[in-house]
Amino acid sequence: MTDTHTNGSSSPSRRALIGWGGAGLALGAAAAGGAVAMANAGNDVDPVAAEAGGAVAFHGAHQAGIATPVQDRLHFAAFDVKTDDRAEFVRMLKDWTAAARRMTAGEPVGEGAYGGLAEAPPDDTGEALGLKPSRLTLTIGFGPSLFDKFGLRDERPAALVDLPKFPGDNLDGARTGGDLCVQACADDPQVAVHAIRNLARIGFGKVAIRWSQLGFGKTSSTTPDAQTPRNLMGFKDGTRNIAGTETDRLKKFVWVADGDGPRWMTGGSYLVARRIRMNIETWDRTSLQEQEDVFGRDKREGAPVGRAKEHDKPFLKAMKPDAHVRLAHPDSNDGITILRRGYSFTDGTDGLGRLDAGLFFLAYQRDVRQGFIPLQRRLSAHDALNEYIQHVGSAVFAVPPGVRDAGDWWGRTLFSKEA
Ligand code: HEM
Repeated sequence: MTDTHTNGSSSPSRRALIGWGGAGLALGAAAAGGAVAMANAGNDVDPVAAEAGGAVAFHGAHQAGIATPVQDRLHFAAFDVKTDDRAEFVRMLKDWTAAARRMTAGEPVGEGAYGGLAEAPPDDTGEALGLKPSRLTLTIGFGPSLFDKFGLRDERPAALVDLPKFPGDNLDGARTGGDLCVQACADDPQVAVHAIRNLARIGFGKVAIRWSQLGFGKTSSTTPDAQTPRNLMGFKDGTRNIAGTETDRLKKFVWVADGDGPRWMTGGSYLVARRIRMNIETWDRTSLQEQEDVFGRDKREGAPVGRAKEHDKPFLKAMKPDAHVRLAHPDSNDGITILRRGYSFTDGTDGLGRLDAGLFFLAYQRDVRQGFIPLQRRLSAHDALNEYIQHVGSAVFAVPPGVRDAGDWWGRTLFSKEA
């Protein structure tokens, strides 16, 4: 991350006029917008992003971080709103956007981490100075409970349903829900953590983090030619997914189209987040045959039962009736397809000598009612994997369309009438 102050107008005296800590953001970032704006022609997949350490375009028809090739690390945060002042909340969204625009370009927030007024806390916390943009993407989502606030009741999309309780759910309220969320993905964990920390700092008094999750070891691939990563059960995960280059499938299954619901969501998507704990110790004592039967794929190659290669078409009938892949495959679900973008997590131990580890499942879809819900109904009732996992956290968010240009901001289509 470069630590240059791109904004020549950020003199201490000017800043002093605005006030203390963080208040200089709006000005600094507005000026910086031009410097960092990168057109992405309405597509999340920027060629620069393929280069390790590069920047992913922030502006576009869709938010980055959905179809973008999956980065190595995650810091996901769900926030609760603490203000009932709509104008103040909108100001925060604008400040967040300005900060996100800068951080995704590898620039520090506002006037930077040093060099400003000595009596004020710096605008940026500083730990990402000298680090590359690391393909950081920041993706915002609005939870169902946000629509009970700020007079937004009529704007709540019908597709933003409260998720039903599924068999086997053991949800912890402290890891569930949230008025809004930010998904930070980057190849460098410090860059992702820096981004969430600085957004939380800017939001102080207006929002507070309700829960958060760090993730590593992506469990999905959104690039067709990349090696499929393995999950903590040791299996390749993400073999059959929607690739960021599959424009037609993204359009059909991921992006909200005109007429799907309220206009403000056109170009957006819906996100389901589930913290799924794995009973790692039980799994590790399970025979290889049973492990392979559970998924319906072999451990070494990731090939479907009865096939030789990972990407061979699965022959579902050759799998056990309760095999995960057989149950989750579109052919068993009237064609239902979701974009999975999950990460592994290990949050220490649970006090009983077991790892608190699993999969932080993230799935994007055009409509949750024709995506996660029917899929999870089937899986929660029949999946052989259920013996080894437990869903312990859950949230759903409406993810608005992308920020178009330097003058645009997160949530404008929802909060601004001229949208
Ligand atoms: C800890 C929990 C889970 C683990 C370890 C897991 C693991 C896997 C693995 C190893 C595969 C096969 C490779 C692949 O095609 O990616 C797979 C496929 C899949 N999983 Fe999961 N999964 C989990 C939870 C879920 C949940 C909650 C859903 C949706 C509600 C889901 C939906 C799918 C789908 C749609 C496929 C692709 C099926 C196909 O098209 O062949 N998974 N999963």
